[in-house]
Amino acid sequence: MITKAKGCYDLYGKEAQRFLYINNLLASLCEKYNYQYIRTPLFESSEVFHRAVGESSDLVSKETYDFVDRGDRKMTLRPEGTAGVVRSYIENKMYGDSNQPVKLYYNGTMYRYERPQAGRNRELTQFGVEVLGSDDVMVDAEIISFAYNIFRILGLNVKVKINSLGDKESRDNYRSALVDYFKPHINFLCDDCKMRLEKNPLRVLDCKVDHELDIMKNAPRMYDYLNEDSKKRFEDVQKFLSLLDVNYEIDYTIVRGLDYYSHTVFEVEVDTDNKDLQFAIAGGGRYNGLVEMLGGPQTSGIGFATGLDRVLIALEKSGIELPVSDGLDVFVMYVSETEKQFATTLVQELRMNGFSCDTEYTGRNLKSQFKQADRLNAKMLVILNDEDLKNNMLKVKNNHTKEEETIDLDYILYYLDEALLEDDECDCGECHCDGEHHEFSCHNEE
Ligand code: HAM
Repeated sequence: MITKAKGCYDLYGKEAQRFLYINNLLASLCEKYNYQYIRTPLFESSEVFHRAVGESSDLVSKETYDFVDRGDRKMTLRPEGTAGVVRSYIENKMYGDSNQPVKLYYNGTMYRYERPQAGRNRELTQFGVEVLGSDDVMVDAEIISFAYNIFRILGLNVKVKINSLGDKESRDNYRSALVDYFKPHINFLCDDCKMRLEKNPLRVLDCKVDHELDIMKNAPRMYDYLNEDSKKRFEDVQKFLSLLDVNYEIDYTIVRGLDYYSHTVFEVEVDTDNKDLQFAIAGGGRYNGLVEMLGGPQTSGIGFATGLDRVLIALEKSGIELPVSDGLDVFVMYVSETEKQFATTLVQELRMNGFSCDTEYTGRNLKSQFKQADRLNAKMLVILNDEDLKNNMLKVKNNHTKEEETIDLDYILYYLDEALLEDDECDCGECHCDGEHHEFSCHNEE
């Protein structure tokens, strides 16, 4: 049997419904926060990621899927979304638009050749946002609180860990301090870290091999090397975060695994002792030098991405059910050939008028069609019958209350509308919705 590639998985059934629900929820939140959708290619010239994410990062040095195309160009499947979005911002001269900052959101699969384990895939799906063209700490706070609010709305109890990597001067000072600190212990470090110490000492701190060593735990803290401006900026970000009621804590160990960050960096984790959920469900930060690094004008930027595969795991392990569609509005049943032909046109009409609707396709008898309607959790049944059709009538049954009525064909749309509205009434007792659109408010109440 041909099987899927290691670290990838198929998404279908209930899991696919949950995925779509989260994706749509995030997209609708982005509209509320005034972010515009952007789609960039799944692969870019390798240079985009090498320059942006950094040659010395694990992501570029060990985890990218690289290939040479038929025109001998070096290409890379995107391991993350930020670099491509920034490339597009520059290429399409979005920096010239008068409505700065440009606020963008994207979703899609990313590819990382990592060792697969729960919550770590080789094909992963991210939903991300980027704000380009403002250095205001208000934007830092908006980005962090946005990430935080997404998970609150989903009902997840999360904590945000923040840190500051400061400006260039602060990072240069910190790099020197790290080199001075690690040099005497160099023989304890893995071969990669020996190389990182020369090329980019910050990357030593997120080594997956050496991270348990005591020398790592006692390494100098970035905060102690922040210059006054950077410290002030970090404090201002915190002030705005407090205004927005974000549950955050400072974690000086967060350096992030990508080279483009400056100043604010953060990660979001589920606030739990559950060993299966010890991973970041979102991460991001400021990247004030990235646009320039990729050939554009000096432009500030900040963003985050959340791994939807991890969010699905977190929801499941936390026992959170999502209000995904729980069935069909209408199932149309028939037996004879003439009824079948009528069913064909009726389901089309119902679908075109906004009802989710299905019918019988495999020749089941009427009794089995009732069972099929139950399996599909159909709320209303239309049971066709040649006699009724001759009189322009239809038999309609509420599959929940079992009430049955024969109605005039001309009233079918109106009748189903009314019946489904009654059936849909929200009985959570907590929200003030009209019974239908309660996704946000109910979860907010929790
Ligand atoms: P990242 O921290 O590398 O940041 O990834 C963001 C999120 O993607 C992680 O928090 C995690 O939820 C998910 N993720 C990462 N790797 C995997 C994996 N192998 N399997 C499953 N999920 C994974 C970035 O990618 C930055 N581009 C975020 C950003 C946007 N920074 C600024 N703007």
